[in-house]
Amino acid sequence: MAAVMRASHLLVDDPPPIFRDDYALALSEVPAEEATALVRGFEPAIGAVFRATALVRARFSDEQVQEAAAAGTRQYVILGAGLDTFAWRRPDLATGFEVFEVDHPGTQEYKRNRLQAEAMAAPANLHFVPIDFAAQPDLVGALAEAGFQADRPTIWSWLGVMVYLTHDQIRSTLTTLTQLSAPGSVLVADFLLDRSLMDEAARAADDIGRPAAADEGGEPYVSTFEPNQIRKLMASGGWSDCRTWLPYDFEPWFAGRTDGLGPSTYVGLLVARLPKE
Ligand SMILES: C[S@@+](CC[C@H](N)C(=O)[O-])C[C@H]1O[C@@H](n2cnc3c(N)ncnc32)[C@H](O)[C@@H]1O
Repeated sequence: MAAVMRASHLLVDDPPPIFRDDYALALSEVPAEEATALVRGFEPAIGAVFRATALVRARFSDEQVQEAAAAGTRQYVILGAGLDTFAWRRPDLATGFEVFEVDHPGTQEYKRNRLQAEAMAAPANLHFVPIDFAAQPDLVGALAEAGFQADRPTIWSWLGVMVYLTHDQIRSTLTTLTQLSAPGSVLVADFLLDRSLMDEAARAADDIGRPAAADEGGEPYVSTFEPNQIRKLMASGGWSDCRTWLPYDFEPWFAGRTDGLGPSTYVGLLVARLPKE
């Protein structure tokens, strides 16, 4: 669904794009007409919430990776990668990194089949790591086996995943990430906002997204947060230097748009850092 939202932006919204993903449509296996119909099937304000959420988090994480690259980081781990296309979309940035895509084994198998079907060869610096976060996985062992080096700074992205996990599962993963993170490492993540913080359009999107995730997706939403709660949870997992952003902080990205696409209080973003030595 996230990939279809990224893809549909190029089909239904006015130029210029907030974020350009030319690979998402092919990987999603959804024909362009179907993606367009799906998006147009929502109330415009609700469809905009879904698209803006997927676009903002993708653009935000690319920008954080760019900053990490400038700071000398050369290892990028995408937790819950789904149909993320960074390794194909941004060869300019990706070639400087060892990139690890960590995902549920079922999702990853689906993606690898899609890649094969679309003749999208995985670059040599991309490593697939199948893991189920809900099953107390051996993330340390699996990453090490894939060539990850814990003594080098890492940028981690964890987008569209925390919402499916309990606080204990999140904390335990954060603690593991701390053990795997050299000084100067960075974590980029998003979190579903508490309903009390959502605006009307976001609440309407939540009314659709929540049952769809639970019933059709088989992955119910479990955790929502106020920004101070997620910062506390991050700190309890070892990531105390944490800054949060709310969707309206990204309004400048939407300035001057003629299609009404804009941010909505649905999902927040965070960057947490481990101090440099
Ligand atoms: C909404 S998608 C987000 C994909 C991508 N990160 C993005 O931002 O577009 C959620 C991802 O979380 C992964 N995920 C959900 N529960 C998981 C679990 N228990 N273990 C591993 N991955 C999980 C799914 O496989 C899927 O790739």
